Amino acid sequence: MRKPLIAGNWKMNKTIAEARALAGGIVRGLADSPGVAEKVDIVLGPPYLSLSAVAEATAGAPVGVAGQDCSAEAGGPFTGEVSVPMLKDAGATHVILGHSERRELLSEGDARVAAKAAAASAGGLIPIVCIGEPITTREAGTTLDRIGFQLEHSVFSVFTNTPAELVIAYEPVWAIGTGKTATPAQAQEVHAYIRKRLGEAFGVDWAGNSRILYGGSMKPGNAAELLVQPDIDGGLIGGASLAEADFLEIIRIAAGG
Ligand code: PGA
Repeated sequence: MRKPLIAGNWKMNKTIAEARALAGGIVRGLADSPGVAEKVDIVLGPPYLSLSAVAEATAGAPVGVAGQDCSAEAGGPFTGEVSVPMLKDAGATHVILGHSERRELLSEGDARVAAKAAAASAGGLIPIVCIGEPITTREAGTTLDRIGFQLEHSVFSVFTNTPAELVIAYEPVWAIGTGKTATPAQAQEVHAYIRKRLGEAFGVDWAGNSRILYGGSMKPGNAAELLVQPDIDGGLIGGASLAEADFLEIIRIAAGG
């Protein structure tokens, strides 16, 4: 019932020429895999500087483009920031928000993530809001409490009305870029909890139609066992999204083989 969504988070990688080449390779790979793009939604998340090039390289193809962050402000004296209208102008359809690298390295808190999510949604971008627990939380057995807190303060606090479309990415911090992956059962438990909370906040029908992505060392070798879980609706993929063949393989797996 839910179409899987496979999103690449390129982080601070790829020059403009490299980004154009990778996006073009993915578009050609999809064209060589008939039927796959009808079964899976695909989004590429390059650095800001490459957004236009990736949007051009994917024009006419069933591929969305995501910024990796945005400002909550529409414009003005905010040195170094990029607004939602600017992202849209460059061709973005989505924006990744609250990634743990921004939360940890740049002290981005839930309230700021919430403000950005509201601005993105109001401005016509689909927010992909990242949440996830550090290893200490998992070891303490309080993962669901932590996830619930982040949902409340990064999402529910700003959306008094049900958002048109919003994607949650569950990314256990200890699994990002480490080669460690949550087991399918660990991930499914958290995803089911997220869907339950989304249902309480926005209605069971809305929650049932919304995608919850898993992120954290997803690759061709483990994608199938994760994606087969009933509440895992796709992936937010870092390392493996930088390799054309790996990313295309994960898309094919999400399409059902
Ligand atoms: P990873 O990154 O796939 O390299 O673990 C995922 C992410 O940070 O979104």
